[in-house]
Amino acid sequence: MRSHPCGVINTSHLTREVELCGWVHRRRDHGGVIFIDLRDYTGLVQVVFDPDRAAIFEQAEHVRNEYVLKVTGKVRDRPEGTVNPQMPTGEIEVLVTDLEVLNKAETPPFQIDDTDVSEEHRLRYRYVDLRRPVMQDRLRMRAKVMQRLRNYLDAEAFVEIETPTLTRATPEGARDYLVPSRTHPGSFFALPQSPQLFKQLLMMSGMDRYYQIARCFRDEDLRADRQPEFSQLDIEMSFIDEAQIMSIMENMMTQLFKEVMDVDLPSPFPQMTYADAMMEYGSDKPDLRIPLKLVELSDLMKDVEFKVFAEPAKNDDGRVAALCVPGGSKLSRKDIDGYTEFVSRYGARGLAYIKCNDVAAGREGLQSPIVKNISDEILTAIIERCNAKDGDLIFFGADKANVVADALGALRVKVGTDLDMVSDTWQPMWVIDFPMFDWDAREKRWHALHHPFTAPQATDMDEWQAQIDADPAQCLSRAYDMVLNGTELGGGSIRIHSSEMQQRALDVLGVKSEEANDKFGFLLDALKYGAPPHGGIAFGIDRLIMLMTGATSIRDVMAFPKTQTAACLLTSAPSEVSEPQLKDLHLRLRSKPASDKS
Ligand code: AMO
Ligand code: AMP
Repeated sequence: MRSHPCGVINTSHLTREVELCGWVHRRRDHGGVIFIDLRDYTGLVQVVFDPDRAAIFEQAEHVRNEYVLKVTGKVRDRPEGTVNPQMPTGEIEVLVTDLEVLNKAETPPFQIDDTDVSEEHRLRYRYVDLRRPVMQDRLRMRAKVMQRLRNYLDAEAFVEIETPTLTRATPEGARDYLVPSRTHPGSFFALPQSPQLFKQLLMMSGMDRYYQIARCFRDEDLRADRQPEFSQLDIEMSFIDEAQIMSIMENMMTQLFKEVMDVDLPSPFPQMTYADAMMEYGSDKPDLRIPLKLVELSDLMKDVEFKVFAEPAKNDDGRVAALCVPGGSKLSRKDIDGYTEFVSRYGARGLAYIKCNDVAAGREGLQSPIVKNISDEILTAIIERCNAKDGDLIFFGADKANVVADALGALRVKVGTDLDMVSDTWQPMWVIDFPMFDWDAREKRWHALHHPFTAPQATDMDEWQAQIDADPAQCLSRAYDMVLNGTELGGGSIRIHSSEMQQRALDVLGVKSEEANDKFGFLLDALKYGAPPHGGIAFGIDRLIMLMTGATSIRDVMAFPKTQTAACLLTSAPSEVSEPQLKDLHLRLRSKPASDKS
């Protein structure tokens, strides 16, 4: 229907006749001449209707925003003074000789160039929202990234294999989405939280290197970087160790960023142990763009008079740490109150601080609600350890170690962002040496920090058993996460490939052997029939694209995302089903759907 897309027409087409199709972006009537900016995925072009061609002109007068047009016309120079050097098509216009209205449009729910539209409205009319150039660019970037990733993996001898969507639960820590079976009354499929078990089975099948762009389903609390349904680049390899996997994945990312964005990522990516990350950044996904670190003070605070500090300093599971903010003494009382409220969301019971007005003046030069409780000697030690200078502000956290890490870790990012300390760089890194198990105080049992199929660092069963008997919290696993600018992009591990060891891991997690057999019997069996050493990783594609496009939410890089309450505003899913459908599925509802209640 067309000779060119709209956005490519330029002076090289002068005097040529072109046929263009697109949407009416804007129509302007100017002293008897009508201008329309015609839009398609490549951009805008100005088309002009002059009153000499009365029939076409009259048609153009009735055209409204978002009508779909086909125009035929001649490319000509724009009159002097109307050239727009910002636009690729800004030197030319098309004088229309023929117009066909391919479709009318009702007044759109919002203007395409309106940047102040609520997300709810955008999601309800997503097909209009996706016409916006920024959304077009993001989805096109997404397609390009997936293509490049496929090319890379293909060249590295990976095989793309699909795994089932109707399956059994995979334990990745979220609730399952369940699908009732019609043919097996009372039984349910679970949608996969990840293809974890299938990809391990594929290694046992000798596929050697597998990948898949897999849809995963997790019924969990949603945030800007979490959706109930999302895509993973899922990878598994045989006969490798963590250094090899990490190097192949690092190359993949480095090549991707170079090809798609012309960005050189640092090489090699820095590696940091989980313990150091928690100690220095209060997070297992440090944002290295922010040049602030937590400073450990527990050893200094054991004997201070101030109980708020002394108690956690003395307790094994307690911690006292500081965050020194260069230039922070300009923060007002109101700012500090705001930060105190902010850290309280992470369980902190307060946020002590010292403003260092004049370090050389000793106690007199420090402004703080707590210095009266601290000796000169300790004050000097704090200032020294924090390397605090005049004009700096030191924040303190004293509590259980995890509360201090969470609170000061989040504060580090918040203050760093508020005070414009985030460098304009790409900072990828690996976090390694994760603990294997994590104590769940509420349920009073151990959880797998990654998943129960992750191999321990202990090299044999005896060593591992001894570690478990001493303290499961001290067992380290062979897991690794890739972090980019403070976002966890991907995570993986070397897996357990011995049936006995896998059984032991499930024991520690309190999975009774009957339950283990019921849930993972197929995996435990498969491990007995010749399982190669193997390991892998999965990346959140949506998060990767979010970072690459500078979007603030993964919803903005998905064509049809769900809302914060896991609903689709466009299709109104989830929806009620009819009584006969329920009956087919052998289901009866415990309570009436909300719409029936009056
Ligand atoms: P994990 O659970 O860490 O590992 O998930 C891997 C990556 O998937 C992304 N991700 C999400 N993205 C959007 N919305 C969500 N709700 C969501 N949840 C996770 C993150 C995360 O790093 N089977 C293992 C991988 C392995 O061991 O190979 C797994 O799924 O970017
Ligand atoms: P208080 O003695 O309770 O008035 O607290 C004195 C200062 O210590 C205040 O600035 C509090 O915000 C701060 N503070 C209290 N508890 C903690 C804590 N657990 N960690 C850090 N600072 C605290």
